Amino acid sequence: MDIAVPAMTGFEGARPVPATASSYEDGAVRMFTLAAVLWGVVGMTVGVVIAAQLTWPELNFGIPWLSYGRLRPLHTNAVIFAFGGCVLMASSLYVVQRTSQVALFLPKLAWFVFWGWQAVIVAAAISLPLGYTRGKEYAELEWPIAILIAVVWVAYAIVFFGTIGIRKVRHIYVANWFFGSFIIAVALLHIVNGAVIPVGWMKSYSVYAGVQDAMVQWWYGHNAVGFFLTAGFLGMMYYFIPKQAERPIYSYRLSIVHFWALIFTYMWAGPHHLHYTALPDWAQSVGMVFSLVLLAPSWGGMINGMMTLSGAWHKLREDPILKFLIVSLSFYGMSTFEGPMMSIKTVNALSHYTDWTIGHVHSGALGWVGLISMGTLYYMVPRMFGRTKMYSVPAIELHFWIATLGIVLYIAAMWTAGVMQGLMWRDVNADGTLVYSFVESVKATFPFYVIRLVGGLLYLAGMLLMAWNVVMTVRVGRVTPAAIPAPGLSPAAVAT
Ligand code: HEM
Ligand code: HEM
Repeated sequence: MDIAVPAMTGFEGARPVPATASSYEDGAVRMFTLAAVLWGVVGMTVGVVIAAQLTWPELNFGIPWLSYGRLRPLHTNAVIFAFGGCVLMASSLYVVQRTSQVALFLPKLAWFVFWGWQAVIVAAAISLPLGYTRGKEYAELEWPIAILIAVVWVAYAIVFFGTIGIRKVRHIYVANWFFGSFIIAVALLHIVNGAVIPVGWMKSYSVYAGVQDAMVQWWYGHNAVGFFLTAGFLGMMYYFIPKQAERPIYSYRLSIVHFWALIFTYMWAGPHHLHYTALPDWAQSVGMVFSLVLLAPSWGGMINGMMTLSGAWHKLREDPILKFLIVSLSFYGMSTFEGPMMSIKTVNALSHYTDWTIGHVHSGALGWVGLISMGTLYYMVPRMFGRTKMYSVPAIELHFWIATLGIVLYIAAMWTAGVMQGLMWRDVNADGTLVYSFVESVKATFPFYVIRLVGGLLYLAGMLLMAWNVVMTVRVGRVTPAAIPAPGLSPAAVAT
């Protein structure tokens, strides 16, 4: 069976979108791109603050709402759900219209999704520093906010799948499969892990207990990585890399195998977060085996994305947006090699509780999620605002290099610190006593925390440069001639 890419959807490289492209509904999409940049700056600033607090704990200033324990979940929620979430919503609602050749289904509902999601973010930004939390990582928000998330998410699903439902192209392009699975899986995870008994307006207890609670939480946590931080971003890969490279996807057939293998395998790998706990040993082993299997679809997808550039590698030299998109894939490959290795129980015995995990997280988060988001936003912003290109292309190039340098400093410092900590903690004298006290390992980590902070500052500086470039593009960028509105056609409608 050969699956041909349909000719009408404008993602098959140089072939242009037909002039009959319908008028798209991009109001909410446009706002999501701006919100993504704003929340990126906020979330990464908080990341830099907590990195500084780990280096110099006095930076808590004794103020409860500035304490590390409250700011850390603020950071994770801001970067994952506010920054990542806005990029995902912007790109999915952009891509689904272009690949379906139809305007958004219920555009007013898309506006509800936009404002509803911003309300969730603001509620998180207030409640987390005040200390309200369910205590479950990445699912900290208390039940009234969790209900709002569920309502907004259902609206998002209606807009996305409704648009697929009214599409003018028979084929459903593979990017939409990834976006669709992300939307369905996140709804499922959020509802199952969010089952609580409220005991007050901002206090609740999980309906699960003990190790079952832990297993539900890490089934959620791992699939938050798999679907929120991976599947949706793979949807971006399958649309924006071919578009920016003006090449068809390397293998459309591989993309279908990639999709099914990835979503099937991710669901079973959660127990690798609970090695050496009260979780039955067989369940830990199942998690480990599925994590090892996960290497194959992950790398299959990465290779498919990278090989899309075959015959056009020279474009990487000149095009900074392509640099963001392709280098993000190398970090994706790195973190999805490292993850399966860390899931091997004997390796996890060394890595768990150490900064190695933090290095792994940020090679995925800064390298994969961050860079592909930035490439996507640089692609979308001029098109969303009817501009020929970003205000400053050299600034994109500079952003790419300082972000990459920042990532390398961050993750190299954390890997070294992590392996060092693991080795120090397990080092025993001949009589069985520990060679090092815990505080000695903390002291030894100090220089690495300083290097991580420098890496984080560089990454944040890149994000600030991007924010300036986006503002300038929107305010004074050169208007695309084709975007001078034709009767009945919004400027954004002509941009693909
Ligand atoms: C300027 C950039 C960033 C800096 C300086 C930074 C810094 C930090 C720090 C200091 C921690 C706490 C580490 C610990 O507890 O030992 C952390 C945790 C975390 N960050 Fe970041 N971060 C940045 C960007 C991001 C981005 C863009 C994402 C996601 C897209 C992200 C996702 C996470 C996650 C998921 C954790 C929790 C990790 C875990 O529990 O194992 N970070 N970050
Ligand atoms: C094949 C793919 C992957 C596998 C098998 C995998 C496996 C793992 C393992 C074994 C851990 C350590 C668990 C522990 O000791 O507590 C971990 C932690 C983590 N990974 Fe991955 N990983 C993969 C890809 C990724 C990617 C691409 C990202 C980010 C975009 C990511 C984000 C995280 C986060 C946020 C954590 C920390 C969770 C926490 O404790 O809060 N992983 N992963």
